[in-house]
Amino acid sequence: MVDRVRIGILGTGRMARDFATGLRDAPDLELLAIGSRSEESAAQFGDEFGVARRFDDYATLAADPDLELVYIATPHAMHCHNSMMCLEAGKAVLCEKPFAINATESRQVVELARSKNLFLMEAMWTRYIPAIERLRELLADGAIGKPQLMVAGGAYMPDFDPDFYLFDPELGGGVLLDAGVYLVSIASMVFGSPEHILATGSLGPTGVDEHDSVLLTHADGSTAHLYVSLRARASPTVTLLGDRGQIFVHAPLFAPSRLTVTIDGKDETIELPFAGNGYQFQAIEAARCIRAGLTESPVMPLDETLAVMDSMDEIRRQIGLVYPMEK
Ligand SMILES: NC(=O)c1ccc[n+]([C@@H]2O[C@H](COP(=O)([O-])OP(=O)(O)OC[C@H]3O[C@@H](n4cnc5c(N)ncnc54)[C@H](OP(=O)(O)O)[C@@H]3O)[C@@H](O)[C@H]2O)c1
Repeated sequence: MVDRVRIGILGTGRMARDFATGLRDAPDLELLAIGSRSEESAAQFGDEFGVARRFDDYATLAADPDLELVYIATPHAMHCHNSMMCLEAGKAVLCEKPFAINATESRQVVELARSKNLFLMEAMWTRYIPAIERLRELLADGAIGKPQLMVAGGAYMPDFDPDFYLFDPELGGGVLLDAGVYLVSIASMVFGSPEHILATGSLGPTGVDEHDSVLLTHADGSTAHLYVSLRARASPTVTLLGDRGQIFVHAPLFAPSRLTVTIDGKDETIELPFAGNGYQFQAIEAARCIRAGLTESPVMPLDETLAVMDSMDEIRRQIGLVYPMEK
């Protein structure tokens, strides 16, 4: 029997909780440690999820010699610093999306992991959800012929709170980094990197983007039309058109359990339900890679994470969004 991969989490917010819940469906992972900026939050989280080691600062968790993998669940603006701190301490890292604020930061993290020969992965959990695995198989089998066009998007209206990271430029707020990254990533998974990007968006009162429309064009002429908004409501979905038919990825696009394939006007709906909340699959993949001696996942390679961040930078350049720490 293979030893369970011992994992620590940085941060005790919403994602830390969702990830810890997901780990209940990942028997080969042991949630050994939680790190918080506050002793009280670490203790509360530890009690709730039965975590043995509770740290009231992130660096002490990173230094714990018994941990193999650290999952970074802090706001975007901390991802680069937190990932590098863990890598410097010799830990493998699974970092929440967006991987960092921009491509420059992302490259620093990737270069450090590569120089230390340590495992590193963007927590793009959607890639590991069974329905998205099935989507890749359908495309590889030519189910809809050559993919030509994607329409993907979603919109949600959280309560406005200038202190919440989503609206705070100091924390890398805005809808592109929060949700748009899923769309750029799924377009990349299907078409590869775009040759041209055309983006328009509007910034809200705190100066972060609240509404974006993006058109990606690829070298072979295929296109992806992406939209994301904090000013409307629409369940996130993907429609993918090929020269033989189409695939509809039902909501929620981030963790779907249903695909509809349409060929010659005939629909076939494929149900791919999964146990748990879906966050376990990326963790299971990280553990598999670590046990196999891999330093990255072939499903979400680091060069692709960097290419997605390059696209995100270009979209932000076109919509005029520069974060304070980039000025
Ligand atoms: N994969 C997904 O489905 C998904 C969904 C939502 C969000 N995310 C990503 O996950 C990351 C965290 O999002 P979240 O929704 O969990 O945020 P959150 O609820 O605000 O939690 C973030 C945690 O990070 C820690 N933190 C460190 N520095 C902080 C600072 N300056 N301000 C606020 N918190 C700070 C805090 O934990 P301590 O106080 O314990 O240190 C806090 O609880 C984001 O990058 C986001 O993009 C992913």
